[in-house]
Amino acid sequence: MEKIFIKDIAKFVGQEVEISAWVANHRSSGKIAFWHLRDGTGFVQAIVNESELSAEKASESKKISLESSVKVRGLVSKHPKKDEYEIQVKDFEFYQIADEYPIGKKEHGVDFLLDNRHLWLRSSRQWAVQRIRNTLIQATYRYMDENNFIKIDSPILTPSACEGTTELFEIDYFDTKAYLSQSGQLYIEAAIFAHNRVYDFGPVFRAEKSKTRRHLTEFWMMDAEMAFVDLEQNLQIQEELIRFMIKLVLEKNQNELAILERDIKPLENISKPFYKMNHSEAIKKLQALGSDIKDGEDLGGDDETMLTKQFDNPIFITNYPAKIKAFYMKRNASDQNLAECADLLAPEGYGEIIGGSQREDDYQVLLDRIKEHKLPQKDFEWYLDLRKYGSVPHGGFGFGLERIVGWVCGLEHVRETIPFPRTIYRLRP
Ligand code: 4AD
Ligand code: MG
Repeated sequence: MEKIFIKDIAKFVGQEVEISAWVANHRSSGKIAFWHLRDGTGFVQAIVNESELSAEKASESKKISLESSVKVRGLVSKHPKKDEYEIQVKDFEFYQIADEYPIGKKEHGVDFLLDNRHLWLRSSRQWAVQRIRNTLIQATYRYMDENNFIKIDSPILTPSACEGTTELFEIDYFDTKAYLSQSGQLYIEAAIFAHNRVYDFGPVFRAEKSKTRRHLTEFWMMDAEMAFVDLEQNLQIQEELIRFMIKLVLEKNQNELAILERDIKPLENISKPFYKMNHSEAIKKLQALGSDIKDGEDLGGDDETMLTKQFDNPIFITNYPAKIKAFYMKRNASDQNLAECADLLAPEGYGEIIGGSQREDDYQVLLDRIKEHKLPQKDFEWYLDLRKYGSVPHGGFGFGLERIVGWVCGLEHVRETIPFPRTIYRLRP
């Protein structure tokens, strides 16, 4: 008898199979019980008919409880009308009879669910989210590999900031201080001089005091960096990558998107070109929409929501004022007050998913910026070296995986996009 995964059940109609699974739900009427089983790959209904079991097994079957783990053997059949499969149980064996399961009896608040995140991960919505996250990760690796990017693993323990000193996690590092990385960008910049196109993909840390639906203190970032590109080429790569990622989800995760009740029409727009507008146009548009944002200001979370609700596809906002952006960004050739940069905002109110820019490649200009930003020069000597030995025009970007997962899944808050979320309020479980 074949031991199978539920996802493959359609191939076994009319045959006896063995499935190891958990009980997602169960009910009985008279001598027949219905066990809704899930094995991580899918869901199936098992029909337990007492008259087909020994007296001993029939009474054992009554001990069933939610989330019990069980091995069943039985005959696979197809639902006469629906595209669903059933298994007529011939024999079964419990691995463990579960204690009374805390989730599922009634509506729970999100704090309760997050306290029980180790269990909540099993519920069908959370299952769907993690599978879509997995597809987005796989798509990223695939796209980068097919487009000549080499993966370079950047360090997590660092002596200095990448993105702004106010959001650093500081730790004792023997007789000195170290900081958890906010982005591997500066390190992978070093690697373009060896490999031309590179990326990293891993956890980064921000001591964000923000309580918004978009902020975590630990999240996964993919940083990409390319030699010999300008901003336009950089944005083209970003657009292709995001398009590739969404297309793979639409190909592989229709079932998961249905569980999440995600309207997929906006995702299907992805094959159309992304929108572009510069920062000052974005400010005008926001003011017209009723925001009190002023010229030269950064877009707040609410502004991003308001603006992107107007769009049915991602939008690049280019050329932010240099003074609100990081020290390493090159300035715009025709206006030194503007950064040669772009953020990519997801539509439908989701907002920023990527930050990217051209990098300052001139030694003296970069040194002046480091001084202006009052950064400790000695910790940036190695980074300045890159502008001494074969400096080239270069640029890159970084995406926040959880922001992309949140958008694709249509979720309210990024806390559901990562298996174990970390926020200012939450370090457990
Ligand atoms: O815009 P950010 O800060 O850019 C950088 O860190 C650059 N060094 C990246 C680069 O050019 N290589 O962060 C990049 C992305 C944001 O667009 C957002 O999607 C995500 O990281 N992000 C967060 N996601 C969740 N929680 C937070 N606290 C985040 N902060 C940024
Ligand atoms: Mg940003």
